[in-house]
Amino acid sequence: MENGFSSSAVVITPGYTSKEPKKTPRLVYLLIIGGSIFLCFLVVLISFMLVGDRPPRMPYTSSYLASTESNRSGLADVLRRVERLYFYELHPEKIYQMRRVTPEDIRMHFRPYDPSPNATKNRTDEAMKLRQEVNALKFNTTLLKLRERKAVHVASAILGNNFGWAPYTQDYYSGDWLLGPDLFCWQPVCTVFTHLNQVFSHFKPHNMSQLVRLKELFEDYNRTFERYVENWKLGARTGYVRPHTACQAGLHSLKYEMYRGMTLKDESGIYDEPFAKMLLHSSYFEHLSKSVNDTWKELSQQNVTEFFRQSLLQNVARAVIEMMRYLEHEYLRHCPTDENVISGLGKLPLRFLYYNDSPDTGHLAFHQLPTGEELSGPRHIRP
Ligand SMILES: *[C@@H]1O[C@H](CO)[C@@H](O)[C@H](O)[C@H]1NC(C)=O
Ligand SMILES: *[C@@H]1O[C@H](CO)[C@@H](O)[C@H](O)[C@H]1NC(C)=O
Ligand SMILES: *[C@@H]1O[C@H](CO)[C@@H](O)[C@H](O)[C@H]1NC(C)=O
Ligand SMILES: *[C@@H]1O[C@H](CO)[C@@H](O)[C@H](O)[C@H]1NC(C)=O
Ligand SMILES: *[C@@H]1O[C@H](CO)[C@@H](O)[C@H](O)[C@H]1NC(C)=O
Ligand SMILES: *[C@@H]1O[C@H](CO)[C@@H](O)[C@H](O)[C@H]1NC(C)=O
Ligand SMILES: *[C@@H]1O[C@H](CO)[C@@H](O)[C@H](O)[C@H]1NC(C)=O
Ligand SMILES: *[C@@H]1O[C@H](CO)[C@@H](O)[C@H](O)[C@H]1NC(C)=O
Repeated sequence: MENGFSSSAVVITPGYTSKEPKKTPRLVYLLIIGGSIFLCFLVVLISFMLVGDRPPRMPYTSSYLASTESNRSGLADVLRRVERLYFYELHPEKIYQMRRVTPEDIRMHFRPYDPSPNATKNRTDEAMKLRQEVNALKFNTTLLKLRERKAVHVASAILGNNFGWAPYTQDYYSGDWLLGPDLFCWQPVCTVFTHLNQVFSHFKPHNMSQLVRLKELFEDYNRTFERYVENWKLGARTGYVRPHTACQAGLHSLKYEMYRGMTLKDESGIYDEPFAKMLLHSSYFEHLSKSVNDTWKELSQQNVTEFFRQSLLQNVARAVIEMMRYLEHEYLRHCPTDENVISGLGKLPLRFLYYNDSPDTGHLAFHQLPTGEELSGPRHIRP
């Protein structure tokens, strides 16, 4: 699991200078310096003697065994479940970050993040259930190992944020997943390729079934990017949008930071992505047999290299470009500029669907989640 803790900062007080440095006799300095050199020498000598006597170290076999208290209270069990659920089911796009992950795990479970409302709801519900379980456990903290105490805090924090490290964009019931990207681009739509780049070498195909898996993986990306667009359309109809300047800032981040290649060079910009370079390198398909190559060519009328070059453009690059086009030419018009109409979450959901700054009074915004719960921006601004 990612580690959300940053190393603790050490505060160094400003330099302290003695007011009367000249009065200390030289002998005292000599004694201090000579004494410390002698002490260091002694320490080094003793440690060498001790090391000589010690038996060779046991090989390092286990990094972590649960404490008795953690086993007894069920904490170890719940923590294991949190980890498994997080990586295998709810965030398979991050599976490469799991402890002791195998290439087999990655090939079997990796999928792009699913932004559909169902999946978002499921992630939120599962996180809330597990958080209740963690909070209901009865254990004596003093009997836990330090690592376990930390793990309890980490688990509680990420579950409180719906299985994410960032407190935004992942909570189904707050509706913030209906908003477009923001200035910082903390939304999952901004890291789609980051994750793919990390795992792509593991998808190097050796046989027909792996080749088919690769084909389907690319098709998943078509659906993923399209689903983001669907969410934003739904957001506008629900009355969940950002102020115009925020929408513009989000679009700018997406265009010029996350998907810069495709902004500047159109579809062929995808070839700048590390995973695309890997795919198009002559060694990516080198393990395929002649019979697989021939069968593929017969089935798809294209050789393997050509097929995937096309698939990359059609399923991935085109989907990204369509998404950015929607944001720029359609979505932006739904973001009001008037501060009396909108300011942060406080005035959400808007009463009407907006278009070019004027309310479409024939269209009341939905104000509801797809599953019927009422939305309220102010209620969900949490401390
Ligand atoms: C806790 O359970 C694990 C797995 O069952 C076991 O390996 C470990 O030895 C147990 N810890 C203690 C202190 O009994
Ligand atoms: C929600 O996630 C759980 C755990 O992965 C899964 O078993 C369940 O089928 C999911 N439900 C839906 C509606 O996706
Ligand atoms: C979402 O879940 C609901 C009920 O669980 C189901 O009726 C609907 O078909 C699902 N939608 C999608 C897109 O999976
Ligand atoms: C927790 O364990 C410590 C050490 O054994 C003990 O002193 C303390 O009373 C225990 N606390 C509770 C609430 O049981
Ligand atoms: C394809 O190769 C993988 C790994 O080498 C292997 O696990 C899998 O069983 C193979 N599939 C077929 C259909 O041969
Ligand atoms: C199969 O095709 C790939 C990509 O064109 C090539 O790298 C590989 O050498 C071919 N395999 C054989 C056995 O010719
Ligand atoms: C695959 O097809 C493309 C275009 O048809 C061609 O340029 C390329 O040489 C072919 N590659 C192989 C290994 O046959
Ligand atoms: C990607 O999705 C769109 C919309 O569903 C579809 O029209 C298009 O054919 C898909 N692209 C490919 C290459 O399947």
